[in-house]
Amino acid sequence: MIQQNIVWHHTVIKKTDRQKLNNHKSCAIWFTGYSGSGKSTIANELDFQLYHLGIRSYVLDGDNVRHGLNKELGFSPKDRIENIRRVGEVAKLFVDSGQIVATAFISPYRQERNQVRNIFDEDEFIEVFINCPLDVCEMRDPKGLYQKARKGEIHDFTGIDSPYQAPIDPDLTINTEQYPVTKAANIIITYLKDKGII
Ligand code: PPS
Repeated sequence: MIQQNIVWHHTVIKKTDRQKLNNHKSCAIWFTGYSGSGKSTIANELDFQLYHLGIRSYVLDGDNVRHGLNKELGFSPKDRIENIRRVGEVAKLFVDSGQIVATAFISPYRQERNQVRNIFDEDEFIEVFINCPLDVCEMRDPKGLYQKARKGEIHDFTGIDSPYQAPIDPDLTINTEQYPVTKAANIIITYLKDKGII
């Protein structure tokens, strides 16, 4: 709900001015996938490649954002919905600032991802499905969390006792079993070039 007596204050410098200064357009690259699918790794490799191309980018990562901005949120459906809503708004600020922001959140619910898409202009939100089968993520188990979830030491764990709704029509799908991290980031860079974003 928007509070009463709050009026939008228009800025003097516009998004398009910042994009011109940066010499590229801005967008949100929204990674979604299971824990351990490779979202953060690919987002960071992408950030690294963009940095070396002289492009202004930043990574918002689930684990990191949950240390600060969203530290009071857990993993109930209500908290995940709020987590994604806030991150969507932060990502929009980054896009408004003329940057490319890569977000690495499980973001398990289709409806919330679509709601985030709807706050962006068309072509400014790129949904990237990091497609890695649950059993592979569970075998990788980089943080030992799947094991804890199987033992019942963690509840509401995505894929175990909490749902993941894969995108139906993502802008890009990356199968992490098929591509190494560098190649996955290259695919996204090529997409950004094809779309005239960079
Ligand atoms: S969500 O669903 O988008 O709100 O989750 P997100 O903010 O991306 O946080 C996912 C990371 O939190 C760790 N973790 C859990 N994930 C899923 N379910 C439960 N219950 C859970 N508890 C802790 C886990 O390390 C996730 O990191 P990634 O990078 O996805 O592996």
